[in-house]
Amino acid sequence: MNASSHVPDGRPQSALFPRSVIAEIQRAADEGIYKIRGWGARRPLPHFDDLLMLGASMSRYPLEGYREKCGTDVVLGTRYASKPLHLDIPVTIAGMSFGSLSASAKEALGRGASETGTSTTTGDGGMTDEERGHSRLLVYQVLPSRYGMNPRDLRRADAIEVVLGQGAKPGGGGMLLGQKVGKRVAAMRDLPEGIDQRSACRHPDWTGPDDLKIKIEEIREITNWEKPIYIKVGASRTYYDVKLAVKAGADVIVVDGMQGGTGATQEVFIEHVGIPTLPAVRQAVTALQEMDMHREVQLIVSGGIRSGADVAKAIAMGADAVSIGTAALIAIGCNSPRYESDYQKMGTSWGYYDEYQAGQDPAGITTQEPELEKRLDPVRAGHQLANYLRVLTLEAQTLARACGKSHLHRLEPEDLCATTVEAAAMAGVPLAGTNWIPGSPVG
Ligand SMILES: Cc1cc2nc3c(=O)[nH]c(=O)nc-3n(C[C@H](O)[C@H](O)[C@H](O)COP(=O)(O)O)c2cc1C
Repeated sequence: MNASSHVPDGRPQSALFPRSVIAEIQRAADEGIYKIRGWGARRPLPHFDDLLMLGASMSRYPLEGYREKCGTDVVLGTRYASKPLHLDIPVTIAGMSFGSLSASAKEALGRGASETGTSTTTGDGGMTDEERGHSRLLVYQVLPSRYGMNPRDLRRADAIEVVLGQGAKPGGGGMLLGQKVGKRVAAMRDLPEGIDQRSACRHPDWTGPDDLKIKIEEIREITNWEKPIYIKVGASRTYYDVKLAVKAGADVIVVDGMQGGTGATQEVFIEHVGIPTLPAVRQAVTALQEMDMHREVQLIVSGGIRSGADVAKAIAMGADAVSIGTAALIAIGCNSPRYESDYQKMGTSWGYYDEYQAGQDPAGITTQEPELEKRLDPVRAGHQLANYLRVLTLEAQTLARACGKSHLHRLEPEDLCATTVEAAAMAGVPLAGTNWIPGSPVG
């Protein structure tokens, strides 16, 4: 819905039916099928850009960048696991399936994460040897589809993430179109080659938090009570979901806001379901605090994290770490101007490419075509990701020092204010220049 409000001759365009809406109605009329795409929500929503950090001056004392340390490490899974994950930086790589991504892309993500002392995550499609081999810390997803899931890989993982949903599509299942179901992907998922796959939207072997508790205990038994167990939820009724996840026995909760990316989903889902990341963080932190579990059960936040400012603000709101998907893909070359001539042949342009479902990614990332995959050098891409992760961390440290904090985790809501009433209400921080926090938290 980004059409300008006027056409060139100056006549006003309809607010309800701008050209983009007309084009979509006519596409639907021609094709008879909803639009599927990757990426995340495109509509403007309140986000971390609507928050500002209150750097120190007189009433607070800033830290000296070159001389005074600002710690960045985080431990995930301290509640029950005998081997929690020790990360050097509070930015992790989110689960993205082998299938939606090429094996080389998965390897690159593992390399970049390992180089910076953080973790990466499998996805809906199982664990590849490349990513296990190149990921020092690998989180293994258990999804409703069970694609590629087996006890051997549960034991090969460093942590387990039980996925209940994704921010881009809370209530929906996975989607991998036939053009991306090559021989290896099909073999790992025990499904026929070249056929569209729609994975289940809920786990077949449990129907609620009581059953989930039993499921988690089974996983703990298989993994000898060593590995942290995460529960990932797509943001919608986050306050209640977080409380239930704590009750079910989670060591770590991952909350993915509606700005979160996806490999492929109906566009109507991406743009119209869920709540933005800001209110999701507020609800999650409120729920944890009410249960006396804040910092005891760690909170990972995802959905539109792009910069060190986003990282610092999420942590100041109460997250222990953040997770990135889209930004990691961009760091390794997705939507690079380098591929502009290829994008133009597909009728798009760099910065707009979201046709991950089509499998024709010229950067060799969201594809299973061997010739395209060859374009991605996993070693170089891994270094690029590592560089980007370092920059995120340096930026977050810069902001934390300015607020007088010697560790990123000392950041707190007091270090934040909001530039809009909406963001103030959603994030639970005062509107800039006031002590007014509009609205009241759920619960
Ligand atoms: C290409 C792609 C594939 C994804 N595949 C999965 C998946 O298999 N399982 C899952 O839980 N989430 C999946 N996600 C969502 C990410 O784990 C994460 O929640 C999301 O990307 C975070 O938001 P961000 O992209 O704005 O950083 C995928 C995202 C992308 C972009």
